[in-house]
Amino acid sequence: MPFGFAALQQGHLLLLLLFLAALEAQSRYLEVGDAGDEEPFLLLNAELKRELSTEGQFYRRALRCIDMLSIEGQFTFTANQPQLHCATFFIGEPEEIITIDFDFVNVDCQAGDFLKVFDGWILKGEKFPSSLDHPLPTSERYVDFCEDGRIRSSIKSSQNVAMLFFRIHEPGNGFTFTIKKKPNIFPCNVISQTPTGRFTMVIPHQHRNCSFSIIYPVLIKISNLMLGHLNSFHLKNPSTGCGGVGDFVELLGGNGLDPSKMFPLADLCHSFNGPAQMKIGCDNTVLRMVSSGKHVNRVTLEYHQLDQHEMENRKENSLEEFCPSSI
Ligand SMILES: *[C@@H]1O[C@H](CO)[C@@H](O)[C@H](O)[C@H]1NC(C)=O
Repeated sequence: MPFGFAALQQGHLLLLLLFLAALEAQSRYLEVGDAGDEEPFLLLNAELKRELSTEGQFYRRALRCIDMLSIEGQFTFTANQPQLHCATFFIGEPEEIITIDFDFVNVDCQAGDFLKVFDGWILKGEKFPSSLDHPLPTSERYVDFCEDGRIRSSIKSSQNVAMLFFRIHEPGNGFTFTIKKKPNIFPCNVISQTPTGRFTMVIPHQHRNCSFSIIYPVLIKISNLMLGHLNSFHLKNPSTGCGGVGDFVELLGGNGLDPSKMFPLADLCHSFNGPAQMKIGCDNTVLRMVSSGKHVNRVTLEYHQLDQHEMENRKENSLEEFCPSSI
C-alpha cells in the first residue's frame, strides 16, 4: 500500500504540473497563484493519508479553482473572489467510470456564471477521447447547468476521465458535488493515472475504436497482441502495412490530448506474442485499437516513464523526430 500510494502521489503531481503548464499557456487570465505552488498539493496528500486511517468515513474537502480529483468524496467550491477560469479534472483507474452528483448549486447564470461537465478531458481545444472515438457527438458530451436550469441527478462519464468547467462572479456563491466511481468491465478509452503500469485492452466483437493514453514520455512494451483475423484465410502481405483496413493497433505520439491529431508512429496489424518495445519521447503516447466488430481483439501493454537519462539519450532513438517540440 505505501508503495502504491507513493506512485499515485508522484503520478498526480506530474500530471497536475503538466496540466497547469498547459492551462497557463492556454489562458493568460488564469490565476496561476490559485494552483501553481505545490503546497496545497502536499496538503491534499496529508488529507489523503488521514482518509486512509479513518476508514469508513466519507471523504470531504473544499475544491480549488484548478483541481484534480481521483478519489470518491464530496467536494465544495465557494468563491472567495470572482473566479472566472476554473476547471476540475477527474480521473479514475482504467476500469472505472466516474459519476458526479450535484448536491447543491448556487451560481448566477444571468450574471454570466457557468457550470459545465464534460465527458472526457479538453485542453487547448483538444479532446480526449477524440470526437472520432467517443460514442456521443461532441455537443452531447456537455452537461450545462445554465442551459438545463438544473443538473440531472447523476452524470456518468463514458471512460475513466471527466471534467468540470466553471465560472463564478459573486463571492460566496458555489456548489457541492459527490464523486463516485463505478466499475467498467470493458474499458475502451482510458488515460493512465500513473506514468508506469500495465494494461490489457479487450474489444469483444464491438465495432468501435479505443485509445489508451499515457501523458508522459514512455518506454512502451507490447507483450501480446491478438487480432481476431489471425486464422482467417486472408493473411495480409506484411509489405502493404495495415492499409487502413481490417482490425489493427496503432501507436501515436504527440504533444496534445487528441489522438486523432497525433503522429502515427507504428501500425501493428498481425497478432504476435513476445515483446515489441519502443521509446516515445512525446508528452502523450496513445495506443489505439481499431476494431470492426467481427473479432475479439486483445492487446497487453506495459509502460514506464522515460527517466532523465533515457530522455537525454534519445538522440540514439530513431523516433526523436516525432516530437521535436516536446522538450
Ligand atoms: C475506427 O477507425 C477507423 C480508422 O481510423 C475508421 O475507418 C472507422 O470508421 C472507425 N470506426 C468507428 C466505429 O468509429
